[in-house]
This record gives sequence, structure tokens and C-alpha cells, in this order.
Amino acid sequence: MTVNGQTKTCGLIGNPVEHTLSPVIHNMLAKMTGKNLIYVPFLVEGENLADAVKGAAALGIRGLNVTVPYKERIIPFLKDVDALAQKIGAVNTLVQEAGGFKGYNTDMPGLYRAMLSDGVSVDGEDVIILGAGGVARAVAVMLSEKAGRIFVLNRTGEKAMAIAEEVNGYAGRQVAKAMPLSAWKELPDGKYLAVQATSVGMHPCIDDVLIADTDFYQRIHTGYDLIYNPFETLFMKLVKKEGGQAFNGLKMLLYQGIIAYELWNGLSVSGEQADRIYERLRESL
Ligand code: ATR
Repeated sequence: MTVNGQTKTCGLIGNPVEHTLSPVIHNMLAKMTGKNLIYVPFLVEGENLADAVKGAAALGIRGLNVTVPYKERIIPFLKDVDALAQKIGAVNTLVQEAGGFKGYNTDMPGLYRAMLSDGVSVDGEDVIILGAGGVARAVAVMLSEKAGRIFVLNRTGEKAMAIAEEVNGYAGRQVAKAMPLSAWKELPDGKYLAVQATSVGMHPCIDDVLIADTDFYQRIHTGYDLIYNPFETLFMKLVKKEGGQAFNGLKMLLYQGIIAYELWNGLSVSGEQADRIYERLRESL
């Protein structure tokens, strides 16, 4: 594209930002959808976060993505926060409005759309969530409206309990139950959709996995690892070895970007366009 007087700017703020794949997604989308828009990474130091948001609004930056470590910390600097993002307690997308930015969370709708595109249904499914950090909490909040039962398994049991309590409060029913990781044998019989929401197994520690006992994986019909580097984690290998299907987090990354782009530009990205970007992301890993 040619940068000229009409070019709109979007970008990413975080620390670090050097390894982000988001510019690949958004600059390809701009080209495909014929928008005069450029997407750039902005490295922001913590003490400058408020100034960065204010400055971006003043510069007329149309939209921003927000990544680690600012997804929660940025909220006080926004003009408004969408209901889902408020519930999740984390914002990864800002949209410029009159007088400032409105915050959204496209990570969780991104995971949902990734699952749809992979042909995985969550409606009425019994789900295991591995982990109880910010990402696991968001997954639990998102699934609470659709899943059958949710079991949150975590090394530190109290953190899993806090998530289960919160989700049950939102859902108005006892949908979530917390368990320490070591108690996985007490899961009710049956087959589960499992979401691996910790960083265990991420490059370079690719031989790590939260639960090593292969019997655990006999209970999983579909495993989602939110990690995408390596492309196939040990968790995914173990799910597949026991006959389940397994997916990584690359499509979630893709769709969180697509949903952000749709918010910034008021359009819909087609499945065929999404597939082309996915292929490019795979190549750039
Ligand atoms: P995020 O906010 O990105 O989800 P986080 O808050 O650091 O990240 O959470 C990481 C999750 O990975 C936690 O559930 C953590 O377990 P604890 O709550 O017990 O700390 C889990 N985790 C990280 N390393 C782990 C390990 N080696 N073994 C078991 N769980 C681990």
C-alpha cells in the first residue's frame, strides 16, 4: 500500500511487542478489504500507559490492540468498556470514539469463532479448563453461558475456587467446580472438551505438560491448547495419542484480530479471507 495523507493508523501497545504477529493479520486485512490503513507495534513502558492512551486519542489513532502486561491495567484510562470485557476484566481492543477509547475483549469471542471454524461445539459440553490465571478465568466466563459443566483444574486450588465462585455467580447456577490438578481422577466419568489455558509447554519448554499421566487424556474428545508456539504442544500430542482431536491457539489469535479489525472498520471478514491469513500466519511462525 502507499502511505498518503488519508492513511489511518491502528496499532498494538504492550511490552514487549517485538514478536507480535498482529501486524501480519491487520496489514493483510487492510490490503484484502481495500482500506487505506496501516498497523504498527508501539512499545509502551508502564509509567507511560496513561499518556500513551491519551496521546493515541489525540493523534486520531483509529484503534489499538492491547497485549501483556496491560490488558487489565489499561481499563481506568478508557472512556467506556464493553459489557463482556467488563465481565472478563480484561481489554485487548480499543476503538476510538468521540472523547476517547472504548475497550473490548475480542480474545474470547476469538476463541469461540476459532472453535466454530474448527467444527467444535461448546453447547452443553462438559469442559475442563486447565489453569486459573487471567486467560483461564476469561475462558470460564465465556463458556459459562454455553457449556454443560465446567471443571477448573489448577495447581493452586484456591485460585480455581475463586474462578468457579465468580462464574457461578454470573451464571446463576452451579455450572463450575474447582479442583486441584492432582485430583483429576475424581472427574465424573465421560468425555470432555479440554482447554489448556496455562503457559506450560510453550517454547522453549516444549517437553513440559501440566498432566503427564496418559490416562487423563482418555477423557478428552477435543483438546484446545491456547499456545501456538510450538504448533503442536505436548498436551496436543497426548490428546491425539489417546484418540482425541487437538487444536492450538493460532486460530484464536487470528480471530481476535479479525474481530478487532471488524470493530475498527464496520465490516465482516469472510471465511475465505480468514483462511488466507491463517496460512500466512503459519508460514511466519
Ligand atoms: P495468565 O494471566 O496469562 O493466564 P498467569 O496468571 O501467570 O497467566 O497464570 C498462569 C497459570 O498457569 C496459573 O494457573 C498457574 O498455576 P498456579 O495458579 O498454581 O500458579 C499455571 N502454571 C504456570 N506454571 C505452572 C506449572 N509449572 N505447573 C502447574 N501450573 C502452572
